Amino acid sequence: MNELASLTKHNGVAVITVNNPPVNALSPGVPESIRAHIEAAELDSSIQAIVIIGGGRTFIAGADIKELEAAASGATPNPPKLHPLLCAIEDATKPAVMSIHGTALGGGLEVAMAGHYRVASPDAQMGQPEVNLGIIPGAEGTQRLPRLVGVPVALNLCVSGQAIKAGESLQLGLIDQIVEGDLLTGAIAFAKEVAAKGGPHRKTRERNEKLGTLESNAAAFAAAREQARKTRRNQHAPLAVVDAIEAAVALPFDQGCQREREIIRECLASDQCRALIHAFFAERTVSKIPGVPKDTPTLPIRQAAVVGAGTMGGGISMALANAGIPVLLKDADQPALDRGMATIRKNYESSVKRGRLTAEAMADRMALIHTQLGYEGFETAGIIIEAVFENMALKKQVFTALDRIAKPDCVLASNTSTLDIDEIAAVTARPHMVLGLHFFSPANVMRLVEVVRGKASGKQIIATCMALTRTLRKVGVLVGNCWGFVGNRMMFPYMREAQFLVEEGATPAQVDQALYDWGMAMGIFAVDDMAGIDVGWRVKQEHKHLEKQGLREPLLLEKLIAMGRLGQKTSAGWYRYDGARKPIPDPEIEALIAETARQAGIPRRVISTEEIIERCIYAMINEGARILEEGYALRASDIDTVYLTGYGFPAYRGGPMWYADTAGLKKVYERVVDFHRQFGELWEPAPLLARLAAEGRTFASLDAEKSVESAREERAGAR
Ligand code: NAI
Repeated sequence: MNELASLTKHNGVAVITVNNPPVNALSPGVPESIRAHIEAAELDSSIQAIVIIGGGRTFIAGADIKELEAAASGATPNPPKLHPLLCAIEDATKPAVMSIHGTALGGGLEVAMAGHYRVASPDAQMGQPEVNLGIIPGAEGTQRLPRLVGVPVALNLCVSGQAIKAGESLQLGLIDQIVEGDLLTGAIAFAKEVAAKGGPHRKTRERNEKLGTLESNAAAFAAAREQARKTRRNQHAPLAVVDAIEAAVALPFDQGCQREREIIRECLASDQCRALIHAFFAERTVSKIPGVPKDTPTLPIRQAAVVGAGTMGGGISMALANAGIPVLLKDADQPALDRGMATIRKNYESSVKRGRLTAEAMADRMALIHTQLGYEGFETAGIIIEAVFENMALKKQVFTALDRIAKPDCVLASNTSTLDIDEIAAVTARPHMVLGLHFFSPANVMRLVEVVRGKASGKQIIATCMALTRTLRKVGVLVGNCWGFVGNRMMFPYMREAQFLVEEGATPAQVDQALYDWGMAMGIFAVDDMAGIDVGWRVKQEHKHLEKQGLREPLLLEKLIAMGRLGQKTSAGWYRYDGARKPIPDPEIEALIAETARQAGIPRRVISTEEIIERCIYAMINEGARILEEGYALRASDIDTVYLTGYGFPAYRGGPMWYADTAGLKKVYERVVDFHRQFGELWEPAPLLARLAAEGRTFASLDAEKSVESAREERAGAR
């Protein structure tokens, strides 16, 4: 009969198995198919109980996000409807036992909660992560969850979006039993037992005993709203989900569901929801690389080596060890190695202290990192990552040595943030084995890795490194070999405008506050102080010869460097620091800025928040458009992923290019043209931005067009 779910009989128990690989998402046809089998089981007098279980590696993992995307973009009128299935389960006269393994998230958990009973394997996970996509649970989850676990727990689960394991679920009352051993056998036994007892098999919607009242939960609602505002700054959905759970307490079940539907409809119609869904798919699209098909053979990485045990080399070694890959870590001198290992130890110890890692796991990981001064053992490494000082002559020296030692199929990667990968590759006799792997600091934490493709980088090492980033639980984005690659190249105009704005009358604190309130994780001046003002400065000096002469230059950096105000590390930079890392606005700097502007003849004026946002963000977008047009990023959505995973750009704005689409490319372009007129050549509009704005198009439409083209080419290639 129906393939999306099947029914088998086991001695009086109907087992309905969902078959929609890979994760049994609730795609069209799945709910209908499960429901048809429930109806059949109800009519079958030989059946006493019903078990619903997922085929393959999981229960129903969640909604079909493509369907949500269609609803959010207005292509389909309503959110996917599960109500008839939920009713069929809950109203069944025979006990319905939901049998959970893998994950029951979102719609998956909502279906599970409609059952009369839930059993789970010990490692199963459950949660309502909808807020991550800018929505609330929309299939009665906000109404059933508080009935099962009580209001405070339901609030926490829905606002945080975090999943919990079976053990905790059992304690909270979300499930009724943990099944050790074979889940289906255990579920059938449980079903027989409850059927034999003869009920009543309670409907979740009628279980009101844990709900309490609006008064008794007042503090919990207030705390949840506070949690939402703090942990999900500026986002609507986490507050909306509190409203929906409030409705569960205030209203009878059916009316509560009605309220939930109204709220989710509002969420689906929001820019935030569309942006978060875009961010979700953008991150999954990075692995699609034209010319490097999914089945490109990758090289096995069983042993890695890292050169340079400094900030980055240490972090990269940790990332490798965390994934179980043994690392040979080399530095030029013993004190540097000792410092490197001490930092690694300190970082792991802090994870152990915070309960994120066991002492045994720490010991295992430390044991995977072997320090050394020479190149012994490097000949067995599948990848060698260089992270020595940012100096071309030194990097060339290291790669010359690596070329002599490494096995022929070893990937040679540089962690350089600005140097030319082709120039580095050229000192080897195997440029096709060389590329950049640009990790971000702290490399054991930050998810982004720019995989920098040199002119000669072979497709096999690209495929290998993209796969490696996944193994490291990071997000690899393939970028081209231009100055600053994608992320830092866009960061420079952003930073430049921030500095111009303070010269023209804003304060660093005002600019930072505007950017922070807009959603950036940190203000740009606070970032500069954290990274070290001298770092960016040195990079800029080295590349001065590439810059066009006669353009306006920021004036303050040089003065800060001369004053020894290098940022947090000297307790003073754009801000002052008094022991803690909290930036304190410094009148001395504000006076210095005003005086510098006076000397340079820059008129001072009141700067609006709107101008701060437009100049900083649009400068970034204009550069992004150039990068895209020049082919240094494959897609606008890749640029978004770089900014979302590496630069603290707010996910609910979708990334800089998506944000530009949302603001309207015509508007962005016109402002860039205004700024060009006002501030000169640095604001020359990117031709791609001009073209798309004139055609009334978006960066997203350009991505869609490219994806159709590359699918066509792939099909042609396969023939
Ligand atoms: P660092 O100064 O902390 O560490 C560099 C290490 O390389 C030092 O321990 C030094 O002793 C060692 N070293 C120097 N010459 C060596 C040689 N011949 N053989 C072996 N080891 C040698 O520098 P950091 O910050 O770790 O930067 C390393 C690379 O990563 C640079 O190319 C930098 O541009 C890049 N990068 C840095 C980021 C950051 O935030 N610090 C972010 C992304 C990339």
